Amino acid sequence: MVEISKNERGVAREGAEAAGMPEISEMDDYDALVALFIRNELEFSVDDEIPTDIIKCWKAVAARADAGGERGARNEGEDKARPGGGGAASDKGEGRLVGGCVLALREGAFIIDGIAAEPEYRAQKLGSKLLGLALGEAKARGGREMFLVARAPGFFRKHGFVTVPRDGAPTFFECFGCPQYNVSCFPEVMRLAL
Ligand SMILES: CC(C)(COP(=O)(O)OP(=O)(O)OC[C@H]1O[C@@H](n2cnc3c(N)ncnc32)[C@H](O)[C@@H]1OP(=O)(O)O)[C@@H](O)C(=O)NCCC(=O)NCCS
Repeated sequence: MVEISKNERGVAREGAEAAGMPEISEMDDYDALVALFIRNELEFSVDDEIPTDIIKCWKAVAARADAGGERGARNEGEDKARPGGGGAASDKGEGRLVGGCVLALREGAFIIDGIAAEPEYRAQKLGSKLLGLALGEAKARGGREMFLVARAPGFFRKHGFVTVPRDGAPTFFECFGCPQYNVSCFPEVMRLAL
């Protein structure tokens, strides 16, 4: 994920306003969220070698009618072609999965194990709402800090996260062992005091 300009976010916002605000709720279908993360360009390993306890997942679902029109019809076809895609929800008449967030524990530390909003639902605070739920949950469970690997650091900076120098960062993120780390991919490890 690369940083996007205010202009591009403005275009996305117009689409989102036309579509209406998705509903956020807890969910158990972690695999559907992984599919959402992957199609939103997050590096996501389904075979995590580092033990990770999933604490809670949230989904954002747009009403069925929101996916209507020419665009919706195209999406529906695409979704069906992707296992676990947004079509999984809409096919059951439950709307379309357009956002999600996973709170997890790794080596005793709270992490955001994935957060994404589909492009046309960005720039209308959906990501902020999802992140806020995860932060609130971690706090309620006595968490004092939160870590994540950010490919969109600007978004997390808005929420108070600060970049941790590599030598001070927890070693449990797979990024550091990846051959693309700081070669073609420049993620930042970030921390927020809760
Ligand atoms: C990152 C992401 C979840 C943000 O969701 P969103 O719903 O668009 O974010 P919000 O509307 O809540 O934005 C909140 C603020 O962050 C800013 N922001 C959002 N995305 C940004 C980005 N990529 N770069 C810089 N700033 C960003 C917004 O401009 C907004 O600022 P404002 O309060 O001054 O208006 C979404 O862009 C996304 O899914 N990206 C692809 C997946 C990804 O990179 N996830 C992060 C994994 S590390």
